[in-house]
Amino acid sequence: MADAQYRTPKGTHDVLPEEQRYMTYIKKAVRHRARQAGYQRIDPPIFEKREIFERGIGQHTDIVEKELFLVSATNKDEGEKEFALRPEFTAGICRSYVEHAMQQLVQPVQLYAIGPCFRHDRPQKGRFRQFHQFNFELIGLRDPSLDAQLIQMVVKILQDLKILDRLTLQINNIGTSESRKAFLAALKDYFIGKERNLPELDQKRLAANPLRLLDSKEEDTQILLKSAPTMEQFMDSESRQYHETVLEYLEELGIKYNPNPGLVRGLDYYTQTVFEFWDQSTGAQNAVGGGGRYDGLIELLGGKPTPGIGFAGGMERVMWHMKEAGIDAPHKDQVDVFVAQLGPDAKKQCLTLISKLRDLGVHTVGALGEASLKSQMRHADRFGAKFTLLLGQMEVKEGTIILRDMAAGKQKQIKFKDAISEVVKLLGEKNLDKYTLHDHLGNLDQNVD
Ligand code: HAM
Repeated sequence: MADAQYRTPKGTHDVLPEEQRYMTYIKKAVRHRARQAGYQRIDPPIFEKREIFERGIGQHTDIVEKELFLVSATNKDEGEKEFALRPEFTAGICRSYVEHAMQQLVQPVQLYAIGPCFRHDRPQKGRFRQFHQFNFELIGLRDPSLDAQLIQMVVKILQDLKILDRLTLQINNIGTSESRKAFLAALKDYFIGKERNLPELDQKRLAANPLRLLDSKEEDTQILLKSAPTMEQFMDSESRQYHETVLEYLEELGIKYNPNPGLVRGLDYYTQTVFEFWDQSTGAQNAVGGGGRYDGLIELLGGKPTPGIGFAGGMERVMWHMKEAGIDAPHKDQVDVFVAQLGPDAKKQCLTLISKLRDLGVHTVGALGEASLKSQMRHADRFGAKFTLLLGQMEVKEGTIILRDMAAGKQKQIKFKDAISEVVKLLGEKNLDKYTLHDHLGNLDQNVD
């Protein structure tokens, strides 16, 4: 690493070109499956009123208590630290659903988002302060088949990216908010007099958010939980039936799952179905993605009672798995032609030549500086160009140009006016990078920002 004076802030990183290739590839897979299933793209703002996250995700969750990046405007009129950078998409998308009266559209409304999220957590492997999520929300209809279909779409994306076999699908039903209330009351009762045997963090959880005790990593807590009341005992029959039907549909779709009664998720808005994709080798702390049903969230944000279900995947974690599994991200960043020149006349002619090649869809870079031909050729090698076109003073006079096949190490002199057609012939029409904004159907996939 260079001895730079300035570095990215802790927990953030530049997405450099090598990683951009993975990001683009992941986005393509997401967009492709989203389109197939009728999801439409939404981009909520990167910051929102902090209240939206506080109410939506829950005051006593880690995300809100410890990890919100609060934004203070220099303009104090707007109120100090009234906003927060989004730690996730769901609350913002539900705010948007209410704000834009989307309940008047045909239901369910299916939306997807891709972009950066921010959590001020302690950075560690796979845990960053700025990371990227791809996120789906299906709002306005409630049926176990929709839960199964959403899970299936995620499974397909992970399959497309060739990492599904490294992961396991963990699934649970945490009941309705009423059944959960009864369970949590019983859990609190059970711990009366036992609080002091809990580690400090879990004592706090017991007071503020006892559900989180269930996925505590502390051994003492886990031992105590062995004889505690279970969520299962308090589950209402509707939730039980709902869960069984979701699992039945997953089986129908051929999707493998692990029932996991300890899976509770770290956000308060969930009701009933919750699920996560875990790394088979390291387990829960590095889930590649997670989601669930949130039938009370829209109401909490000021809308009419409206069911919803969604999922978010962490792009950095997906990318990590792809790299670990040795999966390449195909990309189109190769350099086809390197143009080398010597002398002012050659340089002038090369400007037009390069421009024409680029317009035809040939990836072209040119050395337009004053370097020697030898060093320009070294450049061509470094770029990994397939062909080099070389125009010196002699060639300008003769109306010729030298065409060099870099892999074969062979070169020939051709007429300058034939240079473009010759290059196109060698590369093959189908390999040209021809994208125009009007060509929208054939090339939709290329616009992947
Ligand atoms: P989440 O489980 O908090 O769920 O985050 C989803 C995924 O985002 C995680 O599984 C992980 O891959 C990635 N992720 C989260 N935090 C970090 C981090 N600090 N660094 C790197 N990756 C991270 C949600 O966000 C819900 N909104 C999902 C959802 C959508 N539920 C319903 N709809």
